[in-house]
Amino acid sequence: MIWLPTKRPDGTEKSGNTIMRHFKISFIISLLMMLVIFFSRCFHDNSLMADDPRGSGYAGSKACTSCHQDIYSSYSHSNHYKTSSAVDSNVFKKPAAAFKSPFYFSDSSYIRVEEKDNALFQLYFVNGKENVSGKFDIAFGSAGKAQTYGYWKENKLYQLPLTYFADMNTWANSPGFSARHANFGRVIESRCFECHASYIDREFLQSGRLSVIENLDRNSIVYGIDCERCHGPALKHATFQQEHPSIKQSRYIASIKSLTRQQHLDVCAVCHSGNDQAKQKSLFAFTPGDTLSHFYYPDFGAGNAEPDVHGKQLQLLQLSSCFKNSTLTCTTCHTAHGPEENKMKEFIAQCVNCHQNHVHTPGIVKSTENSNCINCHMPLQSSKIIYFNNGAAAKNFPYFIRTHRIAVYH
Ligand code: HEC
Ligand code: HEC
Ligand code: HEC
Ligand code: HEC
Ligand code: HEC
Ligand code: HEC
Ligand code: HEC
Repeated sequence: MIWLPTKRPDGTEKSGNTIMRHFKISFIISLLMMLVIFFSRCFHDNSLMADDPRGSGYAGSKACTSCHQDIYSSYSHSNHYKTSSAVDSNVFKKPAAAFKSPFYFSDSSYIRVEEKDNALFQLYFVNGKENVSGKFDIAFGSAGKAQTYGYWKENKLYQLPLTYFADMNTWANSPGFSARHANFGRVIESRCFECHASYIDREFLQSGRLSVIENLDRNSIVYGIDCERCHGPALKHATFQQEHPSIKQSRYIASIKSLTRQQHLDVCAVCHSGNDQAKQKSLFAFTPGDTLSHFYYPDFGAGNAEPDVHGKQLQLLQLSSCFKNSTLTCTTCHTAHGPEENKMKEFIAQCVNCHQNHVHTPGIVKSTENSNCINCHMPLQSSKIIYFNNGAAAKNFPYFIRTHRIAVYH
């Protein structure tokens, strides 16, 4: 606000006193305005207490950006961050471009992907007539390898029959679905969200003497794997650091680096040690420092079989001589906060770091291949539990994953 002495309407100057009085009034007004601005800032900062569906201890990833900008911007390009989302044209760009012609189950039944009223659908036609359809509501998977979709019907989510399969840039029948007809009836349970999202609220209802059905609350979803999914609720940390900018050490947040090796591994193993053990509590409740085995009932003997490459990185790594004879964890090779594509050189550097003096038996490793330790010692293997088929063409596509059992393969 600018305050200048002015002439009275009769031409005389305002007296000094009047000027002082005006000055005081406007000073008080300015002060009040500054206070209003100051407090509205405070209220704005209180919006750190965003009402996060997970409860009042959570701040949401956006609240971390002001102090952890680098981590946030690199993390937002990772597949973890993108591993579930509401379907919009951006998410759907690559898969949409790959859908070129109807997907046939037989001569007379097929699925088309179509846009209607600004929404995308999978439409099933039998003998030329539309039979059933489902809207692309939610995408699971970043589409780095695959992307599959769910559609809502009341409080249940169902999987759409067709899945985008990146290795071949094509559409295939969703894993485990019949190649002969389209299936719109498979329920997607909260379990998928436990590994592919940060939260969904659900309620369990008794539907018979021994059966329970699960209702999902679609308004409670926190998509993607966010900071607090791995680090636990961090509102108190964010608020404290904001109120004490001179304190450079962190408070009210677990330091993952100073956890025990098993606890460190468990931060990743929550989602990378498979899905076949009986759970005692929701994995959404897992926070760094917890012990994962406390979330499961004891495993009686089921652990003997060779773990599947899909989703069992922890068990496979634990079988490796490298794991048994060193203190490596997942983050020895991987970063927690960034995209993981095109990092082969960095991975190999880790192998060489520990195996500097290894000399192969002459003739086994030709010099041109010498650098690629990974291809020989962590080969791609096809999953036994996940594969795709392409309907009428009656072909199966394997789903290739790197084994984490680092060993000698012949
Ligand atoms: C007002 C600033 C501020 C905000 C907002 C903030 N942090 Fe921090 N955070 C810090 C400071 C300062 C440290 C200590 C120095 C460092 O490690 O960067 C820290 C450290 C951390 C650490 C490492 C702890 C350790 O000891 O290894 C984690 C994890 C963390 N923050 C997570 C988060 C998350 C998640 C959010 C968002 C919900 C968040 N922070 C928001 C300031 C902040
Ligand atoms: C997939 C799990 C995961 C996610 C998601 C995640 N972090 Fe971390 N974060 C870790 C692990 C593990 C470490 C320990 C680093 C290590 O082992 O090298 C860590 C370490 C940190 C540290 C300590 C400094 C450092 O780099 O070691 C900060 C700060 C931090 N994370 C902030 C964040 C923020 C902010 C987000 C969201 C943008 C986030 N993290 C998302 C797993 C995660
Ligand atoms: C909340 C579950 C969850 C946690 C915790 C988690 N991951 Fe993942 N991770 C996933 C899912 C789901 C994918 C598949 C992502 C996609 O859609 O492409 C994935 C993919 C990956 C990939 C494949 C590379 C990529 O970017 O696609 C690597 C590597 C990985 N995770 C390492 C880790 C490590 C290391 C940790 C611990 C610091 C960790 N993950 C913690 C669920 C999780
Ligand atoms: C125990 C944790 C876990 C559960 C439960 C889980 N997933 Fe995954 N999912 C993963 C991990 C880890 C990966 C990536 C690496 C791998 O295949 O091992 C993945 C990969 C995927 C991918 C490919 C993503 C990409 O581009 O790499 C899709 C699609 C997917 N899952 C869908 C689902 C659906 C749908 C469900 C529920 C029926 C489900 N997942 C349940 C952990 C899980
Ligand atoms: C943190 C250190 C460390 C890292 C990283 C590491 N290893 Fe090892 N690895 C070891 C140790 C220790 C042994 C056991 C002693 C030995 O054979 O040298 C071992 C054993 C092996 C073996 C023998 C396996 C067997 O069953 O006899 C192979 C092959 C191997 N590593 C390859 C690799 C490759 C390839 C990588 C990178 C993907 C790698 N290692 C990363 C430490 C490491
Ligand atoms: C010795 C190094 C090393 C360690 C330790 C390691 N990984 Fe990996 N991981 C790799 C390499 C190399 C790849 C293949 C990367 C590629 O193909 O671009 C990989 C790929 C993956 C993938 C993607 C699978 C696929 O084929 O797409 C996931 C998921 C993953 N790692 C999770 C983990 C988890 C979880 C841990 C800890 C239990 C872990 N990794 C420990 C080296 C390692
Ligand atoms: C062309 C495939 C191939 C490549 C590439 C390769 N290896 Fe090997 N490696 C083998 C085979 C086969 C053996 C077992 C025969 C031998 O001792 O040479 C072996 C043996 C080893 C062993 C000893 C295993 C034991 O029995 O104790 C280590 C350690 C090892 N390799 C590490 C590496 C590292 C590190 C790299 C990358 C710099 C690498 N290898 C690249 C095929 C390969």
